[in-house]
Amino acid sequence: MSLNKQAIRDDLTSKPGYIHLDNAGASLMPRCVLDTQVKHLQLEASVGGYEAERLENQRIEAVYDSVARLINCHRNEVAIVENASVGWMMAFYSIPFERGDRILTAEAEYASNYLAYLQVARERGVVVETIPSTGSGEVCIESLRAMIDDRVRLISVTHVPTNGGLVNPVAAIGAVAREHGIFYIVDACQSAGQIDLDVDAIHCDVLTATGRKFLRGPRGVGFLYVRSTVLDTLHPPMIDLFSAHWVAADRYELRADARRFENWENNYAARLGLGRAIDYALDIGIEVIEREVTRLAALLRDLLHAVPAVTVQDIGRHKCGIVTFSMAGIEAVEIETYLRKNRILVSVSSPASTLIDANRRQLPVLVRSGVHYFNTEAELEALVATVKRCC
Ligand SMILES: Cc1ncc(COP(=O)(O)O)c(C=O)c1O
Repeated sequence: MSLNKQAIRDDLTSKPGYIHLDNAGASLMPRCVLDTQVKHLQLEASVGGYEAERLENQRIEAVYDSVARLINCHRNEVAIVENASVGWMMAFYSIPFERGDRILTAEAEYASNYLAYLQVARERGVVVETIPSTGSGEVCIESLRAMIDDRVRLISVTHVPTNGGLVNPVAAIGAVAREHGIFYIVDACQSAGQIDLDVDAIHCDVLTATGRKFLRGPRGVGFLYVRSTVLDTLHPPMIDLFSAHWVAADRYELRADARRFENWENNYAARLGLGRAIDYALDIGIEVIEREVTRLAALLRDLLHAVPAVTVQDIGRHKCGIVTFSMAGIEAVEIETYLRKNRILVSVSSPASTLIDANRRQLPVLVRSGVHYFNTEAELEALVATVKRCC
């Protein structure tokens, strides 16, 4: 399959003259994703939220099938949640940790996840350890193997870190986890929508993602995958009358499916938008998307490398669509502001978002551009030309 760039650009509803390279922050929704949401909001306005939900029930249910197709799982293994963090936390805080348990994680782990590890370390006496990286920056599988013992309760890694183009070898890590029967969580927040995800190939027990980034869905919605074989071992840290049934005055029963991690009230327009965004990506083909994203990101790195004051900060043997850089003598925030004034949207990544990696590599605040398949070579050239004017 090849990419019909013109058709894809015709689907953009963005303001003319803007160049959107903040796809790692929040991407642009295709027109059909916007329309799906607007249509549902209009229905809610005309018949009320509850009736709208009843009328659209089949489409709302089909969102679970869309997620299941995206990551190769069963729809009963999917919970649709407010964002990636909520999904991740619901699963993580369900794990019955005991004093002395070890959590092994990646050096480029996302701040929110690491904060949760530190919290259970503080409250339950769990030990948090980072798996050393290879020379090129990925989680080192040999080092991981050497760290395994019977106290390792969890391996939990970020697939694509928030601060650069690194892609961690989640399937190889999963093979180790599976071999030793260790619970395995993958944060796929930055990879969903730009890299093919197959939970069976990855061997993960839990995987989380958000709607608004490379999936090009709405804000305020994400999903959580929980493997059916581990579901019954996980008791959600919070429950309500949706996730559990109140069966007697002194007793409740949890839902049998992954929706035990959801709660009752939801933004159905956003859910429908998520489903439409996933279907849109699947129609194009994730492999086609991945190829184009990788090609454009490599081109951007080449263009940036040619600017003497710029240091491209991405690590990893195979890099994805996130391209980060710094510039001698100019703060990242100043560059971002200058680019924004010139209608080029990127974001910044601060060391605190991936502290272990940032400390190890002594990273400053970085300019973060997230390249997506709808971007053009001309847009990347415009970014670099504007960066040059910053010098
Ligand atoms: C790697 C990673 N994980 C998790 C998250 C959190 O996602 P959300 O804001 O949807 O909770 C982010 C957000 O930037 C992220 O980059």
